Amino acid sequence: MQLHSSSGVRSPLPAWPLELGLGQALHIREERLTTRTDACRLLYVSDIHLRTDRSDRLCAQVLDAARASSPDAVLLGGDLADQRSELSKLSGLIRRLSDLAPVMAIGGNHDRWLGMDLVRAAVIQAGGEWIHESAARVRHGRRVIEISGPEAAPHVDARSNVRVLCAHSPRIWKTSRHAGYDLVLAGHLHGCQLVGWEYRDRLFPGALLYPYCFLSHRRGSTRLVVSRGVSDLLPIRWRCPREVVLCHV
Ligand SMILES: [Fe+2]
Repeated sequence: MQLHSSSGVRSPLPAWPLELGLGQALHIREERLTTRTDACRLLYVSDIHLRTDRSDRLCAQVLDAARASSPDAVLLGGDLADQRSELSKLSGLIRRLSDLAPVMAIGGNHDRWLGMDLVRAAVIQAGGEWIHESAARVRHGRRVIEISGPEAAPHVDARSNVRVLCAHSPRIWKTSRHAGYDLVLAGHLHGCQLVGWEYRDRLFPGALLYPYCFLSHRRGSTRLVVSRGVSDLLPIRWRCPREVVLCHV
């Protein structure tokens, strides 16, 4: 399992530089915002992109990664399904994830194209919580972890010990970095799938096109974590593992 420390020092990229297809298990990237031993474990899973002929494999990989992560909550970060026929698979995945931990979900641009109402219904029907326009609270010991969706009304709840923004597009960093969150989660860019080098927290050459092509970045006390996502439209990766992100907060 790859570890990332709270100081931003990263472990090397996984050993597999080239990935063709969806045969590899998902990488579990760890991001630590705290060194406390009773940290809350939030598993951020974005860009699953369920589609015909690959949904079963992707769902199995997500479940394997979730079981290995022992999460306290699972956050689905958008672009969950690409086709209406796969919404039942999404519901099935959420039911099984719910056996491990509470599941919260938001939508991404692909979910909007498919129909945000349909995706939301598939999430809720399976027992997940739809937080795209709201916030949820996770009690962890004596602490409260507040998790907001990208379109939740801005607010500050003094009862919350940790504030997390669960988003899809990392472009939200432009406004959210000053909003008092401890952690901002995003996906969407897939690390641009082909990575030549890293410079100042960003992945290149993708960052030449997308300025928010970060892995992890910090502004003041707010940490941005961008997942490289679970799958892509074209299944090819170079030094850019398909992944989920386990955040310790
Ligand atoms: Fe997206």
